[in-house]
This record gives sequence, structure tokens and C-alpha cells, in this order.
Amino acid sequence: MKEKILVTGGTGYIGSHTTVELQKAGYEVVIIDNLSNSNEAVLDGIEAITGVRPVFVKGDCTDLETLKKLFKENPGIKGIINFAASKAVGESVQKPLLYYRNNLNTLINLLELMPENGVEGIVFSSSCTVYGEPDQNPIDETAPIKPATSPYGNTKQISEEIIEDYVKSGAPIKSILLRYFNPIGAHPSALIGELPLGVPQNLVPYLTQTAAGIRKELTVFGDDYNTPDGSCIRDYIDVVDLAKAHVIAMKRMLENKDTAAVEVFNLGTGNGLSVLQLINAFEEATGVPVPHKIGERRAGDIEKIWADPKKANEVLGWKAEADIKDTMRNAWAWQCKVTEK
Ligand code: WQD
Repeated sequence: MKEKILVTGGTGYIGSHTTVELQKAGYEVVIIDNLSNSNEAVLDGIEAITGVRPVFVKGDCTDLETLKKLFKENPGIKGIINFAASKAVGESVQKPLLYYRNNLNTLINLLELMPENGVEGIVFSSSCTVYGEPDQNPIDETAPIKPATSPYGNTKQISEEIIEDYVKSGAPIKSILLRYFNPIGAHPSALIGELPLGVPQNLVPYLTQTAAGIRKELTVFGDDYNTPDGSCIRDYIDVVDLAKAHVIAMKRMLENKDTAAVEVFNLGTGNGLSVLQLINAFEEATGVPVPHKIGERRAGDIEKIWADPKKANEVLGWKAEADIKDTMRNAWAWQCKVTEK
């Protein structure tokens, strides 16, 4: 009997790649998504890769009745992976209430409905943004949680606390909090990938759109940081590696009865790459130039952050495997696919 997993935000970037890996691991997937930042055609890509079209419910997780109906019509859901959230740092500063309402109400609704529907565990999509500007790198799970630098980051911190408090109150559920570093790339099939709406805020989609001629030039936001080449350093993790970590986390939570009720893992490669190094990696991997210039720093940017993935490697039994140049080639293949449409 296939274990049934609910993936909220499952037509989104990380959600769609995780759905593919869940199906490959033998899970049955139900997706709920309000399509505010994705489109239903992603289901075609998932089906083309795995041969299985996930059950899809168009709906908003901030509506409790919608979720009650979903659980009634899809009995037997054992686990949830919660991706459904607004995630643009800059937008969250402009529209904080939208972020608090969407990201927190979604989580609260899911948590409330888990016990009565027999759902045993929830994997939460968190972020390294909870650490703020680290005192030192690499950063592990014991690093202090710093005051959030954006409402988006604050929703991640508050969400983690909500889960901890709910479990402490005696709720019969478990949770694994996955703190992502910087997810990048696309599925090697080029059938699914990142579909940013409007002007991309994140580096890699802006970079590939520039390489494709959609954007005139990439601006490197500052080269006067205290780093070897002056540009910011991040831990860029391949989206398929990231997706695989979710499957391992779900399996651990549902099958391993003696783990702690709430566990936290940093998901990163353990290697820091600067913006300029990433541009260089893309150009070397694809042979495609990326017109770029140095511009002003972007407000709120952290200078450098990369993971110490030791706990995820040893406890979760997961390790990032993709080579950055393969990731760049996959990102480029996906961009070419999207551009040709
Ligand atoms: C990376 C680096 C920019 C665009 C945020 C969130 C994180 C996660 C990923 C959701 C920075 C530089 C970028 C550009 C540039 N969010 N850059 N020119 O800010 O590290 O992380 O997105 O999942 O939680 O905090 O990612 O890709 O925006 O920026 O120079 O046009 O690229 O300054 O140094 P970030 P990013």
C-alpha cells in the first residue's frame, strides 16, 4: 500500500521537484496549490517524468474549509510537506500582512487538521534566513537565531516556533524543519524547473534570462564586501538534491519511531560560492556569456553564509551530490525550454 503524502505548494519550484522524488520513492502524492506563483501545466511535466499524475486540488491553504474538504476526499494522508508560502524577501517588506496571513495561517490550518485526520508528520520548508548574518561560517543548526531581517524571514522563524509549541502542547504529531540555503537549478529532463513570475528576484533565474537575452544585463549587487572577490557568498544547492532530502526526511519521520518529535536540519552543500564565481561557473559550463556589471549593494543582503551540512549528512543520511556545472547546465537547458515556448 503506497503511503499518501500531501504536498502543499506542489506545483511550485521545490514542490514539483519534491513530488517527482516522492513518486519515484513509491509515495502517492496529493498536491494542493492556489496557483498564485505557479501553473497547472507543471503537472504535465511531473507526469512526463514519472508517468504518474499526482492528484491535484486547486485551493488555498489559508481556507480551513478547503483543507477539511481535501482531507475528507483524500483519506489516508500520512504526511505533509508544506511548501505553500509567499517567499519574496523584498515583497514581504512591502506587504507584511499578506506574508503573515498567508504563511502562518496556512501552517496553523495544517497543524490543526493533522491529528483528526491521522496525519503523523509534517516536513516544514524553512530557510537559512532564520540565522540572519552569521557570526561565523560554515553555519550549523546550533547557530543562534538572529532577529529576522524581513517579514518573510520572520514568518519562517515564527513558523518553526509554532510547530515546536504545538508539539510541546502534546499534539500527536512529529515534524522535521529543513533550513534550505540557496536552491538553484532544474530537473535534468528540462521538463520542470523554476518559473519566476515577472522580473526574477533570485540570482540564477535572472542570470539565465540574461544569458537568453530576455534581460539586457545582470547587475552584481556589490563587489565591496569582505569576501575574496568582493561579491556576496552563498551556499547554492541543486534543487534535485534538495528534493531528495525531503523524501529522506519524510521516510525518517514516518518509519523511525524513536526520533525526536521535532528535528532541524541545514540543507546545503557546505561550499560557499560568490556571485562572480557562480557567473563564471555558468559561463564555463555552458559556453554562454552572461553580460553583467557591478552595481550598488542590495538592501538587506547578507554578506556571506554557507552551511555545515554535517548533521544532515550523518543523521539524515543525505548529502548534496550535484556538481555546480551540471546544475548550471540544467538551469540553462530549462531556460532554453521555457524561452522556446
Ligand atoms: C543571491 C545573491 C544577491 C540577484 C533569498 C532568500 C532565501 C531564499 C532564496 C526563498 C545575493 C545576488 C541576486 C541579482 C545579484 N528564498 N544577486 N544580482 O537573497 O541569498 O536568498 O532567496 O526560497 O530565503 O533570503 O538569494 O538569489 O536573491 O541572491 O547580485 O540580480 O545574488 O545580492 O548576494 P538570497 P538571491
